[in-house]
Amino acid sequence: MVFIGRRLHSTIYLLTLVMLVMALSGCTYGGRTDGGQKKGVSSIIGVSQANMREEWRVALIDELKKETERSEDIQIITADATGDVDKQIQDIENLIGYGIDLLIISPCDEKELVAKIKEVYDSGIPVIVMDRAVEGFDYTLYIGPDNEMIGQQAGTYIAELLGQNGGNVVELSGSQSSKQGSERLLGFRKVLSENGNITINRLHLGAESKDAAYDMIMAAKGVVAQADVVFAYSDIMALGVCDAVRDLGLDDKVRIVDCDGFKGADEGIDLVRQGRLTATVSCPIGGKEAIDYALSILGHESGVPKQVILRSNLVTSENVEESLEKINTAVVDDGSTIRVGYSQVGSESNWRLANTKSIEEAAKRFNIDLHMEIADQSQERQYEAIRSFIREGVDVIVVSPVVENGWDEVLREAKRAGIPVIMSDRNVSVENREENLTTTYLGADFMEEGRRAMRWIRDNVKKDGRQSVMEIMGNEGASPTEERGKGFREILSENPSYYIAYSDHGDFTYEGGREVVRKYLENNDWDIDIIFSHNDDMALGAIEELKAHGIKPDEDVRIVSVDATKEAFKAMVRGELSCAVECNPIIGDQLMKAIRDLHSGKQMPFRIITDEKIYDQSMADDYINKRMY
Ligand code: AHR
Repeated sequence: MVFIGRRLHSTIYLLTLVMLVMALSGCTYGGRTDGGQKKGVSSIIGVSQANMREEWRVALIDELKKETERSEDIQIITADATGDVDKQIQDIENLIGYGIDLLIISPCDEKELVAKIKEVYDSGIPVIVMDRAVEGFDYTLYIGPDNEMIGQQAGTYIAELLGQNGGNVVELSGSQSSKQGSERLLGFRKVLSENGNITINRLHLGAESKDAAYDMIMAAKGVVAQADVVFAYSDIMALGVCDAVRDLGLDDKVRIVDCDGFKGADEGIDLVRQGRLTATVSCPIGGKEAIDYALSILGHESGVPKQVILRSNLVTSENVEESLEKINTAVVDDGSTIRVGYSQVGSESNWRLANTKSIEEAAKRFNIDLHMEIADQSQERQYEAIRSFIREGVDVIVVSPVVENGWDEVLREAKRAGIPVIMSDRNVSVENREENLTTTYLGADFMEEGRRAMRWIRDNVKKDGRQSVMEIMGNEGASPTEERGKGFREILSENPSYYIAYSDHGDFTYEGGREVVRKYLENNDWDIDIIFSHNDDMALGAIEELKAHGIKPDEDVRIVSVDATKEAFKAMVRGELSCAVECNPIIGDQLMKAIRDLHSGKQMPFRIITDEKIYDQSMADDYINKRMY
């Protein structure tokens, strides 16, 4: 419930005023089919849409309005930026002028709107960014699909459909400016380029519309007649393709595959049901999720993540009815106790201890019967734990894996037993993502942490000439090790005045960090300008070892680490650690919320990413006492 009693009268007054002003500025009201305002409404959500030309954007606004109708507490005002950044900035200002309590924005341009979004967020108005993620974390929540993944799913399906002999594929592309379309094509092409037996003919449309697709297929009928499959990356184009293929009398020969999979009449799922489309990769538009989370944010509920990457599913004639049923079934949490088996990687760091505590405490609040097994960095022990959870018949298994690889078999066993598996904090890499061996990943964006560390170095550690970096890595094969390293190198490669001179594993432990520095000093004089440590414990160990050799931390060498634990703050206050990139271990509430959602039958997103910041010595004094871990 988001009602805030004392604001009721002023809100009703404001809504009336807003109705008048909006008529003059091109914004529209939602939340009631009759267009009137709701009585008793306590929160106004402003929606700034990039444009209303693209079909899915119109569908998003419809979904947001429909979802809003379900709640007596909220009303939405929408504004169409017509693809113009300046107009979108003006729209946002107008919406704020109307007194909105929360902003939902799908930006025209993810770079040019960063500053405006940050300004709104800093002013205390929560911001949900949709579809295109903006750089940094200066917003409340991002919700969007993984379009490259959607394209890959379509490509993988077509490759399987054609089998070893391969065949001819016609690929339709729409407007060059559709970022969504280009990302889908990127994923699609990546998969098909690996298959030498598939020939692709590309047809470019002037506009992403049903008519343009129809005309193009008719004009290219010679090429289409030779094709085994036509691929279109959106429902609207696929509908034009279906009509043209029918009119050419090719519907028995040519199969059509698309992305979007909307649920309305003559949209992806319906076309599969009618047998006109062979398959669609269906992804929620996100409107329902946005309103659900908006209510949680306005109600100050705990467990709201930073990013939600929506799940996409392949829908064919075999699962179309089941998919529709899932989409149309209302989800209700009956509040019953859920039995959860948790395989925790170990107790290697302060971060991990805080993480375990947060999970154990949250389980009690969310009525979850938690059975946690600590694996002391042993994959074998994690296998044993997972197998014992399967024997016990728990409702959900959660795993924080020591390394990324080697999980397929045991995850298949859980799947055969009908027990869903959530990856917490660290993710796994499976051979075939289509097998859906895990339901979702909840944790940090490790790549972004690595990027942030290097961006801080780029902006704060400068001297003439090139600067050498020592990288102290976590344990080999763990997802935070791999991804932090990748993200760091991504930004490093754009800044040639920095280079990695030495890199070694410290396994995320204090002793490991000490050992890396000790070993280096056995063979070298100290010539390192910057240390990038994959966690705080290793950085603290490295600092001790440096001091033992008379090398002054932060003076002779700048040190940046990841986690931002209380111990790291103390080291910043002492002037030894230069900067700490946050990796938040307090994910108990978010995890328990995801478990309850999963258990009550809700479609799980691919990834749920937690909120993180970056701190350096200039902020350490202000934040040290607020640190919970
Ligand atoms: O997986 C998260 C990492 O694991 C933390 O950064 C590190 O401290 C921990 O041991």
